[in-house]
Amino acid sequence: MLKTTQLSFIESLKREKETDDWTFNGASTREITHCYHDYPARMIPQVAGKLLDLFGISAKYLFDPYCGSGTSLVEANIRGINAYGTDLNPLARLIAKAKTATPDIELLEKQIAIFTRMALSDKLRKVKEMPEIYGISRLDFWFKPVVIDRLVRIRAFINEITNEEIRLFFQVAFSETVRESSNTRNEEFKLYRYNEEKLAKFNPDVYGIMSAKLQRNLEGYKKFKAIIDNLKHPPFTNIYSFNTVNEIPEDLIQPESIDIVVTSPPYGDSGTTVAYGQYSRLSAAWLELEEPDKIDRKLMGGKPLKDLPLFPSDSLNIAINEIRKADEKRAREVASFYVDLLDSISNVAKVIKKGGYACYVVGNRKVKGVVLPTDIAVRNFFENHGFEHVNTFIRSIPNKRMPSKNSPTNAAGVLDSTMTQEYIVVMRCSSTNLIR
Ligand SMILES: C[S@@+](CC[C@H](N)C(=O)[O-])C[C@H]1O[C@@H](n2cnc3c(N)ncnc32)[C@H](O)[C@@H]1O
Repeated sequence: MLKTTQLSFIESLKREKETDDWTFNGASTREITHCYHDYPARMIPQVAGKLLDLFGISAKYLFDPYCGSGTSLVEANIRGINAYGTDLNPLARLIAKAKTATPDIELLEKQIAIFTRMALSDKLRKVKEMPEIYGISRLDFWFKPVVIDRLVRIRAFINEITNEEIRLFFQVAFSETVRESSNTRNEEFKLYRYNEEKLAKFNPDVYGIMSAKLQRNLEGYKKFKAIIDNLKHPPFTNIYSFNTVNEIPEDLIQPESIDIVVTSPPYGDSGTTVAYGQYSRLSAAWLELEEPDKIDRKLMGGKPLKDLPLFPSDSLNIAINEIRKADEKRAREVASFYVDLLDSISNVAKVIKKGGYACYVVGNRKVKGVVLPTDIAVRNFFENHGFEHVNTFIRSIPNKRMPSKNSPTNAAGVLDSTMTQEYIVVMRCSSTNLIR
């Protein structure tokens, strides 16, 4: 008979073999409810799925502290795993809630049929008074008058839907419709208006866009629902808005209760990496979500630091010191992000069970020509809390929609290739809270 040590050696060889390819070149990233809505720096569902298959086989509870559009929550659910997620961006929470909701299919189909019939025969009720869209000061700069008229009517129709899950389903389709029918360049996550020439020819069929999105999402939803209905125990998903940098409320997630964390934190502060707030602004305003303009300042690395702190990671300290030699202020800005990441990891570590896993998908961006070793920082921060390093898988990014070039000096026209690889850091909790 094989001894335990031999077994785990064989097991690790097997894992090594199974983990060769993390690229998933050519794989569709828009299956099931993943088709609902685009999102900046969205995680590839296959990465979350593979991590769960390798490290979450007997998991009951997953937590994603930066859940964004909810990729890992959906992947957990289809494996029968209950999911908790949190995100400061209200649009992200709305998408994640919609993607994990399970409305009644018959009711949903009926509502879609009513909408399509009314919209395509131009019978959606006209709204008497033009409502104010908070958060967009120049509505006519971003939308043509006929587009505004249609969006107002669709919104009024959605607001009358009483079933919350069905309303959510319509809201995510509406959010993408807002974006697609706005005067913004769709291929960008930041808000850039079309030039005059393009604008003159731009006549979006707002009702057609909305109907097509509802239909596409319905097909994705049916597949998701079929998988969930086949599970022995239907999983639950709770999505919150707490900031793990400050705390994880014990009444929402208890200490040492989570089997696995699968997450992708932001790459750095919103100002110089991905502006989640800006991406969400138009949709959030139309959907009357909370003050979209203020989000970017609340996200990681938004607070200025007076001094440069020392981190429990030599590699990170060395990198930040290199940046400091070129630009002290920039070094403090960069450090601010890692202060938040460290605080967040300290709190996340406490909710993971002994033997549980933390899987962080990160990018090592370059600032002032210096590569910031975020993968090593994440590893060191968790090691500081009684976790051991299991593996760091390197994945080249074939098609992720994010800035693959940025300006490391923050000067226009000085570009550098960055973030063509991501690092999947897997840590295992080897102690209990008592000694963490
Ligand atoms: C890389 S995205 C996550 C994408 C997600 N994995 C997906 O597939 O959609 C990072 C997310 O972190 C969120 N975020 C940034 N700082 C945060 C904080 N302090 N607490 C919670 N969420 C935060 C952003 O709003 C953004 O949605």
